Amino acid sequence: MSYKRQEIPQSEISRQLEICARVRERLAAAGRPMLALVDTYGCQQNESDSEVLRGYLREMGCGFTDDEFQADIIVVNTCAVREHAEMRILGNVGALNHAKKAKPDQIIALCGCMVQQEHMAERVKRSYPIVNLVFGPHELWRFPELLERSMTGKKRVFETRQSDGAVSEGMPRARDGALKGWLSVMYGCNNFCTYCVVPYVRGRERSRRPEDIVREARSLVENGCKDITLLGQNVNSYGRDLGLGVDFADLIRMINDIPGEFLIRFMTSHPKDATEKLFKTMAECKKCARQLHLPVQAGNDRVLRAMNRGYTAAQYIEKAELARRYMPDLVLTTDIIAGFPGETDGEFADTLELVRRVRYDAMFTFIYSPRVGTPAAALPDPMPRQDKQKNFDRLLELSNAISQEKHNEYVGRTLRVLVDGENSDRQYPLTSRTNGGRLVHLRGGRELIGQFTDVKIEKAATWALFGEAAE
Ligand code: 5AD
Ligand code: SF4
Repeated sequence: MSYKRQEIPQSEISRQLEICARVRERLAAAGRPMLALVDTYGCQQNESDSEVLRGYLREMGCGFTDDEFQADIIVVNTCAVREHAEMRILGNVGALNHAKKAKPDQIIALCGCMVQQEHMAERVKRSYPIVNLVFGPHELWRFPELLERSMTGKKRVFETRQSDGAVSEGMPRARDGALKGWLSVMYGCNNFCTYCVVPYVRGRERSRRPEDIVREARSLVENGCKDITLLGQNVNSYGRDLGLGVDFADLIRMINDIPGEFLIRFMTSHPKDATEKLFKTMAECKKCARQLHLPVQAGNDRVLRAMNRGYTAAQYIEKAELARRYMPDLVLTTDIIAGFPGETDGEFADTLELVRRVRYDAMFTFIYSPRVGTPAAALPDPMPRQDKQKNFDRLLELSNAISQEKHNEYVGRTLRVLVDGENSDRQYPLTSRTNGGRLVHLRGGRELIGQFTDVKIEKAATWALFGEAAE
């Protein structure tokens, strides 16, 4: 691969911060505080990017609102992974017409994966004249510059050039509460699974330096974070591009060594790159959660090959069993696509069989959605939508039944959870997560929020457990 690491110089980030200060002064002189609304779709990486958007906006002196009629700046951070998400986003952007009419100076910006696709940027240009600014994931670090340009100039700003992507450090971040934190360890993807648009919109794999990651993890912990999720499209190839001899397992160990009581989670792991060293490290590191999201996508070897996944069903099962040998209490989750082009009912039955064999704690299931420019979108796809839906429904039913059975096994046990918030449920007013990441609705006092506590599980449903804080 010809990609060379590209790091954005600190002087460039400083320049962005100077622009923020300039915008802030101008707004202060105009005597009105600005309000911004950041609307986020898609994956955790997008949530993390939105923290940067809000960080920059805060530097510009903006406050935040949920009300599109109050907002002076609206930023929609978009997702491209399935058509359903794109249609929802376009519908919601169209509905901003009313707010824009009432507030003609309002700036509407679209960023993220959806608009990084050329055909989508064109569509927005043509059919959504209320949108003032469009930029892709590669331009995130220079959002202030682009926003200032669209505020002061008359022309709409479109910045979605093709790029392999870069690594930028030192951007401001407005985090959503202190208790849980996202921490990107790498960006992009080199795998080119044939159904997936991500490698086209997020560029090549590139890792942040270990010292930058550890510094950020330490600062999170010092600020009260008790649950850190390391993010990357494929965390198991962390470090390959750096050539420092530090892999993902080493990184987990470095973060585990930071003093304090906190948990380390991560996603997403590609099965072909998940190693015994990783499982061993997870098992040895006290702070590493017993949780592994290991997307299998399909259980039939022909389909897996057509998806370019790089493993067979048997190899996958072997890895999952190896992980469980190291961590018998491991919570294992997965992603599965039903209705990949050309997948037959017989091949889909292999997926159901694999699911019965592996018995996931929870599964995220999707119906295949053709993505422009991906190899799978060019394959013959004879199965009617209703038949795909039927397969999907069977998968969901199986997945729910297994989750329920697994959850039933928790009843009567006492577990350690991190209490993370409140709930509208009168009987169980608190929410919490187990070490393995399962949701527990909890009876207990508000003072527990932000604390690790023991809970006795008394009831189980498909997606959640219920219990009482143990004294
Ligand atoms: N259609 C349906 N599901 C998809 N995913 C990725 N691309 C597609 C697509 N074109 C699913 C995969 C992936 C998850 C994040 O989204 O299962 O793991
Ligand atoms: Fe997409 Fe495959 Fe990369 Fe995941 S690993 S982002 S499914 S190309």
